[in-house]
Amino acid sequence: MAKERLIMDVDPGIDDSLAILLALKSPEIIVEGITVVSGNVELHQATKNAMKAVDMSGAWETKVYKGMALPLVKEYIDATDTHGTDGIGENYFPVPSRTHEEEHAVDFILNTVRNNPGEVTLLALGPLTNIAAAIEKDVETMRKVKKLVLMGGTARHQGNCSAVAEYNFWVDPHAAEILFSSGIEVTMVGLDVTHKIVLTPNLRELINQFNNELSRYIFNITQFYVDFHWQQERTLGCVINDPLAVAILVNPSLAQTRDAHVDIVTEGKAEGQSLVDFGGVWTDGKTNAKVCMDVDARKFFELFLGRLFPEHADDIELVLEKQCFK
Ligand code: RIB
Ligand code: CA
Repeated sequence: MAKERLIMDVDPGIDDSLAILLALKSPEIIVEGITVVSGNVELHQATKNAMKAVDMSGAWETKVYKGMALPLVKEYIDATDTHGTDGIGENYFPVPSRTHEEEHAVDFILNTVRNNPGEVTLLALGPLTNIAAAIEKDVETMRKVKKLVLMGGTARHQGNCSAVAEYNFWVDPHAAEILFSSGIEVTMVGLDVTHKIVLTPNLRELINQFNNELSRYIFNITQFYVDFHWQQERTLGCVINDPLAVAILVNPSLAQTRDAHVDIVTEGKAEGQSLVDFGGVWTDGKTNAKVCMDVDARKFFELFLGRLFPEHADDIELVLEKQCFK
């Protein structure tokens, strides 16, 4: 099968960092570049965090591009309560030696898609500000993406920023609305499926027992996130949203999707809500997205752990065999 030529748009962010590791360690994927947007933490720190994740992956040649620092309309609201003031669990790693590219992320996305029509996949794991800015600048080029997969939104599951809104859509609802009305078909990996992807204490301790630089990095950046989950919702472990979107790109059979028309609420109490109309009942059958509504969590962790720690395949299988995935 031909390799997936991918641009990752991220706001690292602890789970974004895990997604970058997974993508860069998956042979099915060629990461053409990583573009960064303000989200979990502001753009400059998020860019450093993206470069740190690249360094930890060992894929030194990967290029990182800085993008939009503020949402299109709304005031910027970070998620440092969840990810820490440095965005990766308050580890305050030394600034990476590498530097980001001079080209703006939005121009990199447009130039790459324009020069490779129908061949480049976009994977959006943060607020959609960079994606929307590219659409506003040149929608005809953006319609030439091979496909767009995103982590964001929620169809029928409780929101994480309000009863109905998920963070990536809530931070920049106008950007999300521009994407879903652009004519670009979206695969939406929302909270309906990501809430089932819990890095349990058991699985996190397995990673710790691998006792190498990568395992220590993962264990260390996820501690703050584990503490937040316990304090906030009495969850033991932490929900790792973004790597699921990478895994679904690598193996679409992990998730079950339903065709839907998705519209975004941009104002008022429900701002950031994704209105998911399965089958486009209220849009004369017109749909604009495939919405993930179920996932095989065990298959996800087989892929996630297997790609990051291939030398420990036997121990991974042994522990997953005993792990309960409801
Ligand atoms: O709501 C979860 C999403 O918002 C994840 O992508 C997380 O990294 C934040 O960006
Ligand atoms: Ca993210």
